[in-house]
Amino acid sequence: MHFTFTMCRSSREQPACDGGDKNTDVEQKCMCVIETRTARTSELEAVVKMQEEYNKYNLAPRDRRKHGFLSLVTDFEKLKVLNDDLGVMVALCDDRIVGYEIPVGLHHCDDIPLFIPMREQILKLSIEGTPLTAENTIISGQICVDKSYRSRTVGEALHFGLLERLRDNYEFTVVEIDELNTRSMHFSQEKLGLQKISVYEAFEADWHILGQRISDACLAGIGVLSEDIVFSDSHSVL
Ligand SMILES: CC(C)(COP(=O)(O)OP(=O)(O)OC[C@H]1O[C@@H](n2cnc3c(N)ncnc32)[C@H](O)[C@@H]1OP(=O)(O)O)[C@@H](O)C(=O)NCCC(=O)NCCS
Repeated sequence: MHFTFTMCRSSREQPACDGGDKNTDVEQKCMCVIETRTARTSELEAVVKMQEEYNKYNLAPRDRRKHGFLSLVTDFEKLKVLNDDLGVMVALCDDRIVGYEIPVGLHHCDDIPLFIPMREQILKLSIEGTPLTAENTIISGQICVDKSYRSRTVGEALHFGLLERLRDNYEFTVVEIDELNTRSMHFSQEKLGLQKISVYEAFEADWHILGQRISDACLAGIGVLSEDIVFSDSHSVL
């Protein structure tokens, strides 16, 4: 699935699309054409760089609380395996990666220590009476949007675009969120429509597992993208 849309200039004019100043509290906006699609191998280093930049260990405690944070950095080789399997979803502005979401099949969890206890939990859960299995469930995974592109539905474009692509092969999707990441929790529930189904403790944190039926999410995703973003009417399957 391949979407292109234009992010319009905000009232606070900010034409440069270099990601802005990460140290300011103002979420600056810039104008460019945003494209969402699966990543090319050559783009994965940029994803790893974002994983490092927004990792909790590289953010001040105040920034973590206010803007959210990541707990996992996937090295290039692992990311390539995941990309070759299900396709990492990326958002680009003038060819620069400004957001991504990484789908992970349950069979990959053994290679990602943070996900091992999550998989154990997932396999004990059900959604609407249907037990979650490695065959029917996909971890829609880590999502991140560059600070200068937040609050303008880039996250929604990534998530609903990803689910649209995976809907024929999976029935459910789940994510896990550190309880301290209140921004992600709010975003995932209010904007993506995920619902809390479980909470467990691992690695000295409380993790909430949220889930949704993919077909319902795809329906809910219609029409939620920002009015400031103009979609081109050419949607093509890669
Ligand atoms: C999580 C993320 C993808 C969400 O994308 P986004 O563009 O920032 O999302 P939005 O701004 O549209 O939505 C965030 C919502 O949370 C609210 N919010 C902002 N800061 C918050 C906070 N500290 N606590 C709780 N809610 C908060 C916002 O008000 C907004 O809700 P509203 O529109 O109803 O007012 C993005 O913030 C991000 O990449 N964060 C860093 C990495 C991360 O945390 N990833 C998730 C890992 S599980």
